[in-house]
Amino acid sequence: MAAKDISARGPVHVAIIMDGNGRWATSRGWPRLIGHRRGANRVRSIVRAAPTLGIRYLTIYAFSTENWKRSTEEVLGLMSLFARYIRNEADKLHDAGVCVRFIGARERLEPALRDLMAGIEEKTRHCSRLTLTIAINYGGRDELARAARRVAEDVAAGRLAAADVDERALADRLDTVGLPDPDLVIRTSGESRISNYLLWQSAYSEFEFTDTLWPDFTPDELAKLVARFSARDRRFGGVAAE
Ligand code: IPE
Ligand code: IPE
Ligand code: MG
Repeated sequence: MAAKDISARGPVHVAIIMDGNGRWATSRGWPRLIGHRRGANRVRSIVRAAPTLGIRYLTIYAFSTENWKRSTEEVLGLMSLFARYIRNEADKLHDAGVCVRFIGARERLEPALRDLMAGIEEKTRHCSRLTLTIAINYGGRDELARAARRVAEDVAAGRLAAADVDERALADRLDTVGLPDPDLVIRTSGESRISNYLLWQSAYSEFEFTDTLWPDFTPDELAKLVARFSARDRRFGGVAAE
């Protein structure tokens, strides 16, 4: 009898909702920003581990379009943490073969941060061991609305016929153009929601929710979730294998 056709392959694209930094810190009586700093350290170790697990694309949620609701102190703290991460890591990421790109609406970010983002994208453009996509001021609905606006502009300008607006036309105008859809979406901290992340792209993703807070999430746990993914039966609307 044929073995059940389970996907022996690991996930090529893993997307992570890095949640729980604030609770990690406040449970210790520390300011939330300390949790974000610990979270940034976690990013370093997870990025290092990802290619060794066969992951070619890693997409991490750093700041959502809704996170502006937080205190000015926290928002500014996060923005300077992003700038520091880029400054400190640019050379190391380049040398490790990591191509860095960003998704999200950049206009609302400080020009200095935007320059750093453009700089690391340019510097690592030719790297191919891992593509690290960082979502800053990213929201799935905002991304879809911006893509729809581009479709409308192209139709109005006569570059695209309305009858040719299909899934591909929309996908080609998303921030994630060129990236495969995520195979696996992981959310830490015990919350079981998507929080406006990769709404279009995760249509057929597998999901893992873990109680671990992001500053405690280790490469070992990532390896465990990757192994579990490999045992899943993905059907994409078809029927289960015998
Ligand atoms: C995730 O941790 C990081 C960001 C959203 C920027 P949180 O800051 O959401 O941590 P909790 O959920 O409050 O614990
Ligand atoms: C999602 O976490 C956003 C990021 C991890 C950057 P949130 O903490 O903002 O999500 P909610 O508010 O719990 O849904
Ligand atoms: Mg949170």
